Amino acid sequence: MARLPDAFIDELLARTDIVEIVGARVPLKRKGREYAAPCPFHDERTPSFYVSPTKQFYHCFGCGAHGTAISFLMNYDRLEFLDAVEELARRAGMELPGDTRQGPQESDLRDQYAALEAAARLFQRQLADSPRARAYLEGRGVDADTCARFGIGYALDGYSSLKDALGTDERRLRLLERTGMLSRNERGHVYDKFRDRIMFPIHDRRGRVIAFGGRVLDRDASPKYLNSPETALFHKGRELYGLWQARQANTKLERLIVVEGYMDVVTLFQFGVTQAVATLGTSTTPDHAELLFRNAPDVYFCFDGDAAGRRAAWRAVESVLPRMKDGRQAFFLFLPEGEDPDSIVRKEGAAGFDARLAQATPLSRFFFDELGRDINLGTLDGRARLAERARPLLAQLPDGAFADLMRQELQRLTGVGTAGVAAPAPPRPPARPRTPTRKRSLVRSAMALLLQQPSLGLSVERPYRFASLRQPGVPLLLELLEVVHRRPEISTGALLEHFAGHEHAEALRQLAAQALPGDEASWAAELHDAIAQLERQTLQQRIDELQQKQRSQGLDSFDKYELRQLLQALAGRG
Ligand code: UTP
Ligand code: MN
Repeated sequence: MARLPDAFIDELLARTDIVEIVGARVPLKRKGREYAAPCPFHDERTPSFYVSPTKQFYHCFGCGAHGTAISFLMNYDRLEFLDAVEELARRAGMELPGDTRQGPQESDLRDQYAALEAAARLFQRQLADSPRARAYLEGRGVDADTCARFGIGYALDGYSSLKDALGTDERRLRLLERTGMLSRNERGHVYDKFRDRIMFPIHDRRGRVIAFGGRVLDRDASPKYLNSPETALFHKGRELYGLWQARQANTKLERLIVVEGYMDVVTLFQFGVTQAVATLGTSTTPDHAELLFRNAPDVYFCFDGDAAGRRAAWRAVESVLPRMKDGRQAFFLFLPEGEDPDSIVRKEGAAGFDARLAQATPLSRFFFDELGRDINLGTLDGRARLAERARPLLAQLPDGAFADLMRQELQRLTGVGTAGVAAPAPPRPPARPRTPTRKRSLVRSAMALLLQQPSLGLSVERPYRFASLRQPGVPLLLELLEVVHRRPEISTGALLEHFAGHEHAEALRQLAAQALPGDEASWAAELHDAIAQLERQTLQQRIDELQQKQRSQGLDSFDKYELRQLLQALAGRG
């Protein structure tokens, strides 16, 4: 097989989220800009293994293991290079270029994505052409922008609109069936699953359509909502409706709001609450909980105020408890009888809805209120019962401040200690290795910045006037800039990979692993400042040379001219 082009690898890594890849295998904990865990590649108790979403690489301060999402899969899943690349490409919806091998399975999944995309487009066209469906959405106050953003469409009545439009040959028919768009009766006859329904496409984390939810137009038709069945692409316990749109609309998600219905997500969005997601006709699963917290530190669960709502809320509690690592918070909001987020936000607007969220019950309170609901804490028996109920649940909490507080609270409420539940206080993790305070040379600063965010180098224009500066590291800095210009999409991880085996590879890795203070804008300014200073030093170096020559042998007229120019340039640069 031919070597994969660098550009392909760069794009693959740019479209892959290393945190998702590593996080699916190692319990990551957010730490500032990065995620940390005990290193999976050597034995340790306290985490020194870090994964950086911005740099797209992992590194262990303990054993030095490091690399990209590709090398992680190779080392952790023990995959060959090409298999690791294929795995990531499949997830990213990318095709391996040229003559690289491709299994029949991958190409079938690709065809399924394409078929669902085509179905979504068909439904959208049919919505545009159906006055009745348009009137329904209008009647519910969904505007055209919102329909477009969520890709809302309409499935025609009749048993074969989709089948006739997209199932034009035997292969396509079987493909549509695998995507769950067609049903088959006992006699083997195949027909449209969704008929006369408003269609809500369900997108995966990368914005691909993987399933649909369809709502009837008539009040009394049933079932009200019909979802795609589980397929190779769609596992409802692992997907959240609206997450794609929420991620598109928010550069950084500070919160996610979990609601019950499609219409709740859509209406909240239309009214400016762009962080709502819905579970798909299931209660919140542990996979959902992890996905939610992976995307936002604060998660609000929103339920009906009735008994069913409380039961659903408790299932959410059970799913989030084992995920309550430090830095994560869960809240519960119960709505008045007969209301859902759709109706509330229409009446009260985003501000009203936000005000309700601000009053939401924290997990800690909901937990003890709910457990103690039918218990009289005024009696010894009651307190013992509460402790008994709480213990196994609290034991599921990951170690950390939240777990400590919950155990203290139980102690306060019951007077019963949690010995046997609380793990012994974990040894304090070692202080995060910090950027050395010793002042770095300009060259090292510039390299650290470039490694932090390689695309910064694109704004450093050629010719590099500091190229002739005689200082350690200058050739390496030039090489870094060259690579970045040649591979504009390159991530930190891929850049390090490029220098693997280089005599300074280890030094580069250490620079890359540092967490620099500031943000991208301040880094750009710092880099330009460093480059400007290097250019000044280059001028000064030449001036020194000429002045040296002046003293030893005198200057000719060219030299004098050059010296004047240099001195002027230096003065101009202040
Ligand atoms: P609701 O019946 O509360 O629907 O179901 P809703 O979202 O308020 O719907 P509208 O406002 O009448 O359109 C809440 C959610 O439960 C799932 C759907 O995900 C729905 O959005 N559900 C409900 C089903 O999957 N099937 C059903 O038959 C009903
Ligand atoms: Mn509703």
